[in-house]
Amino acid sequence: MKKAMLIFSACACLAFGQSGFLKEHIKVSQDGKFIGFATVLTPVEILSQNAKNAKVKVSGFVNENYQEKLVKDPQKYEEYLIFADENDNASFKGESNPFIKVLKKAEDEYGEIWLESELSFDLPSSAIVASPDELYAKAKSEYEQVCSACHHLHAPSEFSVSQWPFAIESMESGGFVVLEPAQKDLIIKYLQHNAKDAK
Ligand code: HEC
Repeated sequence: MKKAMLIFSACACLAFGQSGFLKEHIKVSQDGKFIGFATVLTPVEILSQNAKNAKVKVSGFVNENYQEKLVKDPQKYEEYLIFADENDNASFKGESNPFIKVLKKAEDEYGEIWLESELSFDLPSSAIVASPDELYAKAKSEYEQVCSACHHLHAPSEFSVSQWPFAIESMESGGFVVLEPAQKDLIIKYLQHNAKDAK
């Protein structure tokens, strides 16, 4: 009995088909070619994994006329992947994004066409966490520290998933806050996770 349990726990690293979350804002490469960035807390399906490396799949939606981002869904604009070149220049505007596999097309209420898509890529196993709880707790405390200096903390439920990134942008462009990309990513994810239309 004891032996069987040991074997079972030793195999727990081979988590085929399991889900996880990105631990940080990471660079994404496909077949060794840099294709952009994935955001912290993006949910991934683990296709294969060993102690060092993993292959994951991310699913979401890409706007047909603006193929630079893969988001959670057309209504809840939470960014999962931002496609870019080495110089951080956005690419694939209105062209066909070669890195995604399009599963089907859907039209939203404004007549925009969305490509329900997926893509897989390799990353270090250390960049995946099984549970998002610790990261959301860290995000919450970052938010409370950074965003309470000048006014009361706005409740995450005051704005929608799609509105929060603009609120942060306006704090940045107004010169009120300077955020590191990773920190900005984390704060946005926390606010979106608890936004008024999050559930
Ligand atoms: C240095 C001071 C300062 C800091 C730090 C700051 N803000 Fe603000 N914030 C302001 C001021 C001033 C306003 C009102 C004027 C404006 O909206 O430009 C404001 C307004 C807002 C509003 C209301 C906008 C609306 O349309 O009702 C939101 C939401 C907000 N801030 C979010 C944040 C978040 C999130 C952070 C942390 C990333 C943050 N603020 C950090 C100064 C600050």
